[in-house]
Amino acid sequence: MTTLEKAKKGEVAVRGLSKSFALKGQPLAVLRDLNLNIRAGESLAIVGPSGCGKTTLLRVLAGLEAPDSGEVLIDGAKVGGVGRERAIIFQEPRLLPWLNVLRNVGFGLEMRGLPRDRAEAHARRYIRLVGLAEFEEAYPRQLSGGMAQRVGIARALTVQPEILLLDEPLGALDAMTKLTMQEELARIWREEQVTLILVTHDLEEAIFLADRVLVLPKEKGAVPRLINVELPRPRDRNDTVFVAMRRQLMAEFGLH
Ligand SMILES: Nc1ncnc2c1ncn2[C@@H]1O[C@H](COP(=O)(O)OP(=O)(O)O)[C@@H](O)[C@H]1O
Ligand SMILES: [Mg+2]
Repeated sequence: MTTLEKAKKGEVAVRGLSKSFALKGQPLAVLRDLNLNIRAGESLAIVGPSGCGKTTLLRVLAGLEAPDSGEVLIDGAKVGGVGRERAIIFQEPRLLPWLNVLRNVGFGLEMRGLPRDRAEAHARRYIRLVGLAEFEEAYPRQLSGGMAQRVGIARALTVQPEILLLDEPLGALDAMTKLTMQEELARIWREEQVTLILVTHDLEEAIFLADRVLVLPKEKGAVPRLINVELPRPRDRNDTVFVAMRRQLMAEFGLH
């Protein structure tokens, strides 16, 4: 497959998506008739107050959760469950403690029947991509939080997904590591040409990484909003337009 062909894949369409959960016997509507088109190779951030349904939306996109009504289409095909073209990364990387970095990253490919040496060869490429070449032999307990999350990202990329779904992946990291990892994610997104769908509660992170930001409201009946981030890349957090956008997004949530 050529790079050009790959770049065209990973388009997501959300059509009339609704999802509720039962709360004390009453249905709690979390997603209400959501419609959304995400271009192949786009970077979309999803922000919103705690409990507004960000994780639920991501889980539905991943195929881990079925919607009550509506559908998700990937490259025109209806999603019926998890699929190889999608990979999801959670806040905690959930590495296997008894495997070293190399085998943790190659594990998904081994599970798919690739012989161990070939799985490891693929894994090495992604370990380099996330800057951990020196740590192939290290075990998860020897890694910092940021390094462990890099391993999680490498593991997700090794299976070459078209769509990378991330649920607050940097939420547990300290402020400095988080900034570095945001730069890393921006670079990885550019180099791998994946569709990136990133849930975050960090508005600056959303502006730094996304082409568009989906703002999910918490109040019933309020409509989700899409905001274009028309800033050149690589982005400068101190740019006046960047700062103004952050202020605008904060105002969406009544923050100053
Ligand atoms: N499996 C579930 N069963 C019942 N309620 C759930 C379940 N998953 C999520 N919820 C509820 O749905 C709402 C949205 O949750 P979630 O998508 O995790 O929000 P967010 O990620 O934006 O914080 C919350 O009120 C939560 O309690
Ligand atoms: Mg969540």
